[in-house]
Amino acid sequence: MSFPESWFLVMVVVIFAGAMEVAHAYNRPPPRENLFVSLAEGADPTTPQQIHVSLVGEDRMRVSWITDEHTPAMVNYGTVSGKYEHSANGTISSYEYTNYTSGEIHDVVIGPLDANTVYYYCFAGGLSPEYSFKTPPAQFPIKFAISGDLGQTEWTKTTLEHISQSNYDVFLLPGDLAYANTVQPIWDSFGRLVEPLASQRPWMVTQGNHEMEITPAIHPTPFTSYNARWHMPFEESGSTSNLYYSFEVSGVHVIMLGSYTDFAPGSDQYQWLQSDLKKVDRSKTPWLIVLIHAPWYNSNVDHQGETQSVDMKKSMEGLLYKARVDVVFAGHVHAYERFIRVYNQNTDDCAPVHITIGDGGNFGRSAGKYKEPQPIISVFREVSFGHGRFEVVNSSYAKWSWHRNDDDISVESDSVWLKTFASDPSCKL
Ligand SMILES: *[C@@H]1O[C@H](CO)[C@@H](O)[C@H](O)[C@H]1NC(C)=O
Ligand SMILES: *[C@@H]1O[C@H](CO)[C@@H](O)[C@H](O)[C@H]1NC(C)=O
Ligand SMILES: *[C@@H]1O[C@H](CO)[C@@H](O)[C@H](O)[C@H]1NC(C)=O
Ligand SMILES: [Fe+2]
Repeated sequence: MSFPESWFLVMVVVIFAGAMEVAHAYNRPPPRENLFVSLAEGADPTTPQQIHVSLVGEDRMRVSWITDEHTPAMVNYGTVSGKYEHSANGTISSYEYTNYTSGEIHDVVIGPLDANTVYYYCFAGGLSPEYSFKTPPAQFPIKFAISGDLGQTEWTKTTLEHISQSNYDVFLLPGDLAYANTVQPIWDSFGRLVEPLASQRPWMVTQGNHEMEITPAIHPTPFTSYNARWHMPFEESGSTSNLYYSFEVSGVHVIMLGSYTDFAPGSDQYQWLQSDLKKVDRSKTPWLIVLIHAPWYNSNVDHQGETQSVDMKKSMEGLLYKARVDVVFAGHVHAYERFIRVYNQNTDDCAPVHITIGDGGNFGRSAGKYKEPQPIISVFREVSFGHGRFEVVNSSYAKWSWHRNDDDISVESDSVWLKTFASDPSCKL
């Protein structure tokens, strides 16, 4: 297969593919039922549940799990199954939400760990089976799987199966996880639903509107459950909030922004973003990507004109543009849409590609209506469930592809090769 040399050629191919797509319009199946994943009947209350791992710094991993009854925050781990050469201790917390009290949330950072290596781990005390995860490679190639607005429906299950089959290294989630909407046991169900994947590969998430969970006068603090359950490595990236942070993996600098916390010029998040962008060394991390929840570019009728789209874009788009961010991924709109390189509404060869990938499986997706005609900056748009794959091949090229849930089979329905600005002399870094 020949490799397209220029962006122009890629666009021609893609526009042609887009036209073909219209001719064979996909009739998407109807919504599917919500799921609730319970702990097995009669399970011991010390059984570890909702295990997930996330990257911390260059060579560490945070392991998080919940038990209904007390067990120590201690992980035993090693590279040989059943033989745990290392152990580490961490912390235990819990939170309350009106009449709900969470189980014990265990948080242990383990490492240093070798790259591209399978580690086996189990928990001290109680009845713990063995789990395993694989660390990401030290350098390219690396495969990210990306899907926002995951929720927990029968469609989510299908999306997770397809992601699991993709042999990805790191999962990125641009907001809207459990859709608990203040009903806290739904968070526990979500933790159990994603555990088979999230215990095996790092899951890096940012928050969406469904993580806020404010009950006026009763529980006015936002993000209580999200922050307690999904501790991301914000401390290591100089951030003071779990709602925005960055991390580096295999030559990629990933920035997770918070669409539902202050983003105005001068705000803590804004100042942190400025300083984080200054720290990026494109000779070390040629790729620079950003995740937000509410998309800054969107031609669906859903979620138009929201402050998190309009004002956050107004505040931060210039910073990302000047830093030559390669791709901005968003969720929120329950559909897939890919834009060309765009800045300030216009085509700009030195601007990021914007991609909406809010199609993980939530029930209450958009009505499926798009604004007509399709804007020139929008290359491909479709209201179907699915997930994306961002495969960074080397310091110059990455392949983006979108995989639609075609009933229960994953079908690659859009793809494009991207070149990083770090290897493109025409856009001064
Ligand atoms: C973890 O805590 C246990 C119990 O207090 C202790 O025996 C063990 O030495 C600690 N492990 C590490 C690595 O500090
Ligand atoms: C908490 O309150 C909700 C709403 O009134 C109720 O549905 C739920 O069963 C209660 N949960 C507990 C643990 O008491
Ligand atoms: C990067 O990968 C692409 C696609 O396989 C290949 O054409 C290109 O030569 C590679 N570039 C480098 C610098 O290795
Ligand atoms: Fe959302």
